[in-house]
Amino acid sequence: AAMATMEGLIGLVNRIQRACTALGDHGGEGSSLWEALPSVAVVGGQLESQSSGKSSVLESIVGRDFLPRGSGIVTRRPLVLQLQKIEDGKAEYGEFLHAPRKRFNDFAAIRKEIQDETDRITGKTKHISNIPIHLSVYSPHVVNLTLIDLPGLTKVAVEGQPDSIVQDIENMVRSYVEKPSCIILAISPANQDIATSDAIKLAREVDPTGERTFGVLTKLDLMDQGTNALDVLEGRSYRLQHPWVGIVNRSQADINKNVDMINARRKEQEYFSTSPDYGHLASTMGSEYLAKLLSKHLETVIRQRIPSIIAMINKTINELETELNRIGRPIGSDTGAQLYTILEMCRAFDRIFKEHLDGGRPGG
Ligand code: GDP
Ligand code: MG
Ligand code: NA
Repeated sequence: AAMATMEGLIGLVNRIQRACTALGDHGGEGSSLWEALPSVAVVGGQLESQSSGKSSVLESIVGRDFLPRGSGIVTRRPLVLQLQKIEDGKAEYGEFLHAPRKRFNDFAAIRKEIQDETDRITGKTKHISNIPIHLSVYSPHVVNLTLIDLPGLTKVAVEGQPDSIVQDIENMVRSYVEKPSCIILAISPANQDIATSDAIKLAREVDPTGERTFGVLTKLDLMDQGTNALDVLEGRSYRLQHPWVGIVNRSQADINKNVDMINARRKEQEYFSTSPDYGHLASTMGSEYLAKLLSKHLETVIRQRIPSIIAMINKTINELETELNRIGRPIGSDTGAQLYTILEMCRAFDRIFKEHLDGGRPGG
């Protein structure tokens, strides 16, 4: 239980997710264990070069600059981002699954690696790929969360893209958000009519009751003078079970001027607390609030899903044991050794989750 208390349930699930990915066939995406584990996926539309601000929202949640973002189709592969809170005072760093022994202390280098790794699969094109990039960020300043950044839903292919891209992106996004364990962060820009939001359209399709959809409204600062988004933020335009959260990300001009995250968050807070329209909502608006809301919700969802996670872990243990019996004991084969390590990990997870189930709420 010491481990469980230290890193919390979300941290545990993060570790299983990483183990699953390393497992490939035995538990990577598409496997039943992976399907059972909750995560948060970011969904939003892309109208010509107008993005909804998905990558910006993720960056604000993490509190660091590290994602490629800007106009046009920048996110071209799914990015599975695992945030792990570490002790105060410790140095933060990132690690990619495709470069496991390399610690990235510099977040600009992380951005470059995401770009390079995207290009490694897609070339320097505007094409997309379903193959996810896995990044873990360890920091004292994050909340434990698994977030997935996805390409924007489009209506038309741009030059250099095949016509199938519109459907390809939708299929990719759908494959994440249709999982019952997926929490949907549906991002819509405030300067477009919410009735035409692709994010809301897709969320409504895969989650008609709205129980796993969080509506996020970006670009409040870009609305026409004299208009406001209160109808959306107060749930009158489109009702969800969770409250809407309004966000003000950095503008392109801010990015060009290198406005850092701390200042951006301060400006965002100021925007809400001094706004005549949104002042009364200030305590439930902004990126910091969104991060806490999501983390809390994810923890609840994981608690509810512990029995099914245990069942899936046990299924995986059985499969691994069968496979290990088939190929003989691990010694001498890399695959065997790897499977054996993961089997041990699964057994440990099984014990810890059962403790959570029996012991109620051991904190953390
Ligand atoms: P994505 O394509 O949905 O991931 O969107 P990005 O995060 O890459 O953002 C696209 C562009 O919109 C960038 O130039 C951002 O600076 C800008 N942007 C995003 N959110 C906001 C916002 O809340 N306010 C303003 N003014 N600009 C924003
Ligand atoms: Mg993006
Ligand atoms: Na973009």
